[in-house]
Amino acid sequence: MAIKSVRCLEWADDRLRLLDQRVLPHQETWLEYQTWPEVAEAIRDMVVRGAPAIGVAAAYGMALAAKAGEDRSVAHAGLAASRPTAVNLFWALDRISALPDWSFEAVLREARMIELEDLQMNLAIGNHGMRLIPNPARILTICNTGALATAGHGTALGVIRSCVAEGQDVFVYSCETRPRQQGLRLTAYELMAEDIPFASIADGAAASLMRAGKIDCVIAGADRIAANGDTANKIGTYMLAVAAHHHSIPFYIAAPSSTLDPSLTDGGQIPIEEREASELTHIEGVGVAPVGCPVFNPAFDVTPGELITAIITEEGVFRPPYSF
Ligand code: MRU
Repeated sequence: MAIKSVRCLEWADDRLRLLDQRVLPHQETWLEYQTWPEVAEAIRDMVVRGAPAIGVAAAYGMALAAKAGEDRSVAHAGLAASRPTAVNLFWALDRISALPDWSFEAVLREARMIELEDLQMNLAIGNHGMRLIPNPARILTICNTGALATAGHGTALGVIRSCVAEGQDVFVYSCETRPRQQGLRLTAYELMAEDIPFASIADGAAASLMRAGKIDCVIAGADRIAANGDTANKIGTYMLAVAAHHHSIPFYIAAPSSTLDPSLTDGGQIPIEEREASELTHIEGVGVAPVGCPVFNPAFDVTPGELITAIITEEGVFRPPYSF
């Protein structure tokens, strides 16, 4: 199976290198990071984004802190403050902080392990998930959940990749994903790189495509899944789940177990990031709203577990009622 044709991060020459996702698809610029505060800022500013990729980047940020002989709890707290919703960030930081050995070698080894395991989990998710997808299938997805959001292959987009690798006939409808346009910029970039047939759509087009009988299933990623299956993902995901339910279309979530947060009983406890107004009021740096326009810009929403037909992890396919 073809994997890692697109990569978003790498460790080389004792530095973390990140593909700058703020300027994709028009520029492929790799930036280098030598300190953990720089990595924290890169996560906050979405040079790197996507829950699993954020976790891997933070783990390498901890390796940079260990290399510089810095206090591990300070680096942990600083990296943890970068973005609040994706639990993979905290999962990776906790895993590194629990190491008995704070040597650079030990931390780097664990960070590399976190990266490798993420790729392996995504391949397993792909294998489980593709069995749920009809052949042929017209699949609706949102945001970017591919190699740019993970250590490789992807979660929801990984399931689509696995279907294609098995020779299944798929056509992807990819939501633009306002306001940061991860679908239009990043998912389109990945799908075009692999010649996977697709069309980008405006977010508001999704429900009418369902009504027109053009969608066989919806598959999305996740930033945090509570014990009862309530799932935080990119803003707009909940609308897709409601519309899919209305049209009796299966709605799937694909995520590694590092995205599960069994400490939260339900999705109401998931912290939802609010980002700056300019993400909404400006497009490619150009202001399109009246100056001073009031804005509410939550980056994620929560889909109740009962609207999710199945949750696919590397462990298999889970169905409601969920109990993680
Ligand atoms: O704000 P982003 O781009 O980090 O949001 C990403 C998403 O919502 C993804 O769907 C999620 O992190 C899963 S990525 C495999």
